Amino acid sequence: MDKVDIKAVKFDAEKDLKEAKDLADLVVIERKYLGKGGMIAMVFGTLQDLEKEERGQVGKEANELKGFLEEEIRVKKAAFSSSDFGNKKIDITAPGKKMSLGHLHPITLAIRKAVEIFQGMGFEVVEGPEIENEFYNFDALNVPADHPARDLWDTFWLKDQKMLLRTHMSPVQARYMEENKPPLRIIAPGKVFRYEATDASHDFEFYQIEGLMVDKTISVANFKAIMEEFFSRFFNKKIKIRLRPSFFPFVEPGFEVDMSCLTCGGKGCPACKRTGWLEVMGAGMVHPNVYKACGLVPRDWQGFAFGMGLDRLAMMKYRINDIRLFRSGNLKFLDQF
Ligand code: FA5
Repeated sequence: MDKVDIKAVKFDAEKDLKEAKDLADLVVIERKYLGKGGMIAMVFGTLQDLEKEERGQVGKEANELKGFLEEEIRVKKAAFSSSDFGNKKIDITAPGKKMSLGHLHPITLAIRKAVEIFQGMGFEVVEGPEIENEFYNFDALNVPADHPARDLWDTFWLKDQKMLLRTHMSPVQARYMEENKPPLRIIAPGKVFRYEATDASHDFEFYQIEGLMVDKTISVANFKAIMEEFFSRFFNKKIKIRLRPSFFPFVEPGFEVDMSCLTCGGKGCPACKRTGWLEVMGAGMVHPNVYKACGLVPRDWQGFAFGMGLDRLAMMKYRINDIRLFRSGNLKFLDQF
């Protein structure tokens, strides 16, 4: 067997030990140098071929190296195993680290509050799909294909041109009346999408709450009473509402409902486009064609429907002057709730 250079072995072993990162590395090093067939064993294996004098010298050096490595590995093993948590001292009286807790988004808070109020007035909460088809978003709501009223809603059409991202929550009216006969009293909170430019009071994605109440003799007077009750409870104070005549194909008569702007107290600010009023919902008495599309006899039923912009209500409630903050992901904004 070739002569082994002990100095070179020691040099390599020291380097390996220096680079060892954990117990597993030490096991490998131990095997490499001290194991059966390891470097030290190889040195001893060459002794018989050496001259007597040299044999004594090399044997001595090999023994010294073996002792050195055994000790180094023992010390390092002890150091690695004591670096675990068990041997560290902990001050159990020290105050704990504060966990950062998440919280509800202002829109969620507003939805929950609105739902609670309507449920208190006997309304049931129902849902519908965000990806809607043309029939429920338009046709069933008395907006036939190619009718100019479709332009009231700038629509995100999906590839096949029959499906779309719902532009309002009104499709839920039709879906529900198909399945359930009046008398009925429902609200449907949900996300809607419009292909339009944004500003302080318009986003391309926002929440609406649709409402529908149908029975034999439900009137605009019932609508006003319920809305006044809702707004007063939502804002914890009496607030002003105004109805303006308006057109929606699925109601007759139809109106816009405005409330006085709580951000500026009616003086005018960016949130209300400096008018003092904020348009919060469209509403009206359900159109006979909608009853027909849902398989009901229009003569038998009378009721109102409304669709309100929930983001705008939340803006009023929490004094927020730009709707785009809701979806900005800005923690400085969100942390205030
Ligand atoms: C509608 O969406 C009708 N479906 C409402 C309706 C339901 C009328 C039932 C009659 C009967 P409109 O497009 O006006 O209507 O939207 C309703 C409300 O959503 C508005 O009053 C406003 O508060 C809010 N809104 C509309 N566009 C935006 C927008 N881009 N960003 C934020 N809120 C909006």
